[in-house]
Amino acid sequence: MTDKALRNFDIERFQRTLIDWYVKNKRDLPWRKTKDPYRIWVSEIMLQQTKVETVIHYYEKFMENYPTIFHLAEADEQKVLKDWEGLGYYQRARNLHEAVKEVVETYGGEVPQDPNDLAKLKGIGPYTKGAILSIAFGQPEPAVDGNVMRVFSRLLNIDDNILEQKTRRRFEAIVREVIAKDDPSSFNQGLMDLGATICIPRTPRCEVCPVQPYCRAYLEGKQHELPNRKKKAKHRTKQFVAVCLVNEKGEIAIEQREHKGLLASMWQFPMFEKDDVKKQPLVELFEKKYGMKIAITEKLGNVKHVFSHLTWEIVVHKASLEGHLPEGRHSLRFVSEKELGDFPIATAHQKMLRLIE
Ligand code: ADE
Repeated sequence: MTDKALRNFDIERFQRTLIDWYVKNKRDLPWRKTKDPYRIWVSEIMLQQTKVETVIHYYEKFMENYPTIFHLAEADEQKVLKDWEGLGYYQRARNLHEAVKEVVETYGGEVPQDPNDLAKLKGIGPYTKGAILSIAFGQPEPAVDGNVMRVFSRLLNIDDNILEQKTRRRFEAIVREVIAKDDPSSFNQGLMDLGATICIPRTPRCEVCPVQPYCRAYLEGKQHELPNRKKKAKHRTKQFVAVCLVNEKGEIAIEQREHKGLLASMWQFPMFEKDDVKKQPLVELFEKKYGMKIAITEKLGNVKHVFSHLTWEIVVHKASLEGHLPEGRHSLRFVSEKELGDFPIATAHQKMLRLIE
């Protein structure tokens, strides 16, 4: 299914413009002088989390030391790590070495051209897989990393958060449609160079961008606002003690939440933070807040509710009123079971209701 962002996007002219620009302006990089899948593979592993300028020297030395996949497969791991020294992220080197040995053992030293076989090798994720398949084998496979997501966020004016997995999958589907089937290698590397030299993070150089005429963020002046990479709030857990307070008529006490924030204006059972209950008995807290004396009659159980960014863990107690309801104002409403159905009650508190029933 075509992504709706590609409606009215002139794919063919975009491909031609990008590839023409790449062919004329491509950076002169040592791994661009070969189609040897082993060499492309090594370069892509080194380029993970590491700048091109840093990689060049290491790549050249590595290729002198291990000119073929067989040289690397036969090497001692300590020696390989020594030659990786300074590049960092040494797990990359261990994974590469292990995967290379696997290719020699299982495929006679031929890097697999089948996407599924390639993906099974250690250290080859979706990006590296796409890069190897497109650059070495000319397969029209997407190679989507942060740079490519930035380029396409702007080009198609897409606001999806690129820190989310599903956004990567969306961009992979988009690139799969847009990629030039007759030259996927130049297309993908053109995107890489565009992202590295022109469509850069904070200060995109739109005035010299070859695909500026197709760029929808530029058209709307939004290029500085994209891509969207909002950090997700860390997931937290909060613990509460809730009270199911029943009066002599069998009505239950509920109150309305604040009109803004989480579950704004919804109704719930009175609830206290567990930390506060540790410092002062529940009945005292209750009296202080609502001006009424209660007695805890039993513990009903536990309720857990997971929001996107927050988990509530609630211990639920049943309570009865001691004496009469105080005169004057308090925020509690006593309602019958039947009336309860008319109030919007948050799911977490619906779960408590089931404990009572
Ligand atoms: N970054 C990741 N892969 C690259 C490649 N093949 N060329 C340039 N930069 C890259």
